[in-house]
Amino acid sequence: MALSLGWRAFAPLPMSHCGVSLKAVRSSGLALSPWGRCPWRGTGSFSDPEMKAFLEENTEVTNRGSLTPEIQLRLLTPRCKFWWERADLWPHSDPYWAIYWPGGQALSRYLLDNPDVVRGKSVLDLGSGCGATAIAAKMSGASRILANDIDPIAGMAITLNCELNQLNPLPILTKNILDLEQDKWDLVVLGDMFYDEDLADGLHHWLKNCFWTHRTRVLIGDPGRPQFSGHSIQHQLRKVVEYSLPEPTRRENNGLTTSTVWDFQP
Ligand SMILES: C[S@@+](CC[C@H](N)C(=O)[O-])C[C@H]1O[C@@H](n2cnc3c(N)ncnc32)[C@H](O)[C@@H]1O
Repeated sequence: MALSLGWRAFAPLPMSHCGVSLKAVRSSGLALSPWGRCPWRGTGSFSDPEMKAFLEENTEVTNRGSLTPEIQLRLLTPRCKFWWERADLWPHSDPYWAIYWPGGQALSRYLLDNPDVVRGKSVLDLGSGCGATAIAAKMSGASRILANDIDPIAGMAITLNCELNQLNPLPILTKNILDLEQDKWDLVVLGDMFYDEDLADGLHHWLKNCFWTHRTRVLIGDPGRPQFSGHSIQHQLRKVVEYSLPEPTRRENNGLTTSTVWDFQP
């Protein structure tokens, strides 16, 4: 049974899947991602024609079923072969960039509805995935944006998604910036990044530094994952807005019903 449920089972279980990958990164001693063979690492070109063709063939362009119908994305949907295919036949690292997670949906909705939050500001989208929140920031007038994700294939997906939304490609960085010195940003946004306890601790530490060094504003989108709700960061949050999730997102996320934007105030 598990054989034909590969990608359907994937969306509701981000913690276990991502957890494995992240532990691999951390214990490997590598500063970057574990996909060393991948040619798209770093800030280089995200236009490899073979990879582009693979992504185009194995995703569907959609704006349905999310909180932000104004953003088109290439995602893994039930109309894609690999949604139904055995997970081990997918030839790359787990495609978190191919799902528009509820935390990112809430953040993007908030930025689109409240452009003043980003207009003229520098914005870092940490753990950008499909890039939707970075795209929302751009649509709302952010002056400088960096989409950061340790998965180099996410870089390619973000580039394709910018194109879909008639935007110039956004700058992308695929280094693990949690190990690097802090840059100055007006705003850091994180959608659905608190799904693993070690990662949550690392992010909390990094975000505190960011706030105290540069007075950076930090907005977090989360649908109530236990690694977030049970984390000590809870004492340093102010609720900004809570959204009711659309039915398709609920179905694909194990019955999660809402997603909330939080303002981090250490
Ligand atoms: C659950 S997905 C969320 C994606 C997107 N923000 C959204 O809400 O749709 C988490 C993403 O974080 C990325 N990630 C994990 N650890 C990271 C790190 N240390 N730095 C940057 N990205 C990371 C993963 O590759 C994955 O794309």
